[in-house]
Amino acid sequence: MLDLDLPQSGASPASAQDWLATQEKLRGDYRGCGADFSIVQDLSAYTKDEHRLWQQLFRRQSEVAQRYAAKAFLDGMHNLDMSPDRIPDFEDASKRLRALTGWEIVAVPGLIPDDAFFSHLAHRRFPVTVWIREPHEIDYLVEPDVFHDFFGHVPLLTQPIFADYLQAYGAKGAEAMRLGATKILARVFWYMVEFGLIRENGEIKAYGAGMLSSATETAFSVDSPKPHRVMFDLARVMGTDFRIDDFQSTYFVLDRFDDLFAAMNQPFAPLYAALKTAAPIPATELRPGDQVINRGHLSA
Ligand SMILES: [Fe+2]
Repeated sequence: MLDLDLPQSGASPASAQDWLATQEKLRGDYRGCGADFSIVQDLSAYTKDEHRLWQQLFRRQSEVAQRYAAKAFLDGMHNLDMSPDRIPDFEDASKRLRALTGWEIVAVPGLIPDDAFFSHLAHRRFPVTVWIREPHEIDYLVEPDVFHDFFGHVPLLTQPIFADYLQAYGAKGAEAMRLGATKILARVFWYMVEFGLIRENGEIKAYGAGMLSSATETAFSVDSPKPHRVMFDLARVMGTDFRIDDFQSTYFVLDRFDDLFAAMNQPFAPLYAALKTAAPIPATELRPGDQVINRGHLSA
């Protein structure tokens, strides 16, 4: 899966129209979206087949989650009381989120520019794409859809410490854009929001939205001997390249979500300054100082 709501690492265009003009193949309908790229979710527009596809994806990924997901993710699914049968009503989920963590969902047509994305997160609003993939895309999708965004991301927003972390992350966005460091900040989203692992009672569990909305990467990330699994370190994550067209070669592992939140409480500018002059660490490499949980056998 590509482009998992990831900040896109470019300069901010002057207007929404300018940004749209730079995007070649966006799938959503951006007509009528607001300056913050929000739209209204039209529940009546979903077809029976689309609800059926949600059902199929939900059943498959719930089984994956039961086996591999972190407790916080499973608790989040429970808190949302998601229907397995229908594409969720964002307003209903927002009511639950507001009561639990003060977050809410905003409907969007698809990918949105960095400044709008960071601003939503900084204000405890999570952008969720309204459309669902086509049946032939059940295993592979070029842009994030409602299943990825909702099933993958929203459960953890019911968890206070992760919710606080994601707001703090969003609040770092404006500075990163000003300093030309969006690409460096985006790596934190990639590795610690889309593809994060956490250790629970000595066992590795998955919490990342990218893996938990994928049919096969969750099992790979937890069970396979191929990838490296390395303890989370902010500067290491910020300096590490990633691949968007294959499973990850390195996963970073938390012991607790508090560590992720605490990492946001430091000045990022010196980290950006150091990292901008260094070559990115290839995702296949381990480095001296890494706290390695599993050394991967990448060619196994
Ligand atoms: Fe995502």
